[in-house]
Amino acid sequence: MTAKIISGKDVAADIREQIRAEVETLAEKGIQPGLATILIGEDPGSHSYVTAKNKTAKDLGFHSVQETHGADISEADLLALVDKYNRDEKVHGILVQLPLPAHIDENKVIAAIDPDKDVDGFHPYNVGRLVIGQPGFASCTPAGIMELIARSGAETEGAEVVVVGRSNIVGKPMAIMMMQKAQGANATVTVVHTRTRDMAAHTRRADILIVAAGRANSVTADMVKPGAVVIDVGTNRVGVTESGKAKLAGDVDFEAVKEVAGAITPVPGGVGPMTITMLMKNTLISAKRHAGLDA
Ligand code: GUN
Repeated sequence: MTAKIISGKDVAADIREQIRAEVETLAEKGIQPGLATILIGEDPGSHSYVTAKNKTAKDLGFHSVQETHGADISEADLLALVDKYNRDEKVHGILVQLPLPAHIDENKVIAAIDPDKDVDGFHPYNVGRLVIGQPGFASCTPAGIMELIARSGAETEGAEVVVVGRSNIVGKPMAIMMMQKAQGANATVTVVHTRTRDMAAHTRRADILIVAAGRANSVTADMVKPGAVVIDVGTNRVGVTESGKAKLAGDVDFEAVKEVAGAITPVPGGVGPMTITMLMKNTLISAKRHAGLDA
């Protein structure tokens, strides 16, 4: 059996068209969603993500500003930059790309972002709201995965969901969203990580397996239950394509796992486009909330 391919690219394109239409309606009311992205240092992955986020924002008709600074920026200067966009009325969403250089306290920077502009959903206020099932801003990658799973038609109610990885950006919020008492969730969730004793024993039970391990080939075919839905969050740079672009591989051994799974996301073209799209959706929601509209 060969798995159905879940195209994040197609789902993202669909949602982006809905966003574009809403942006046009808002423009008639004199409202333009605004996003500020802050990129520190030279990490090539971070550069390409932030460039893609800005390009998408502009393409959708958003006001979009990108701040790029060297890795030697002081923590105080970065905090001042965040404050500048907290006060900027044209900006409804602020994103500080992670990771930050070692001399900067990431938690301090995240906490400095106005929670009402925290479209990444990283501020402790929004993380807390997510945990107790209250509206706020939800972290974009897990929110995008929820959308992909919903559209794949997979049953989540009572399903065994195994999340590989426990990061603040993906693993933890993913587990919270899937266990939420809500439609498209209600799952029984297990989180496995680098200290888990027998990872395969857990992953083999998964009806839905979400892999955010940060390492290529973390999940091989023998670790997957036949017919499972496999979501691959990995973006590992494993070489260069013929056109000179970075060659990406997920955390899952795609070629072998697609012969066992019922459905699987590819890399690229799976989770990645959804993360950016959910960021745009959060920024649109923020612009509406700031204008006093229902969102
Ligand atoms: N680094 C990796 N993923 C993300 C993300 O979704 N947002 C931010 N700000 N940094 C990241």
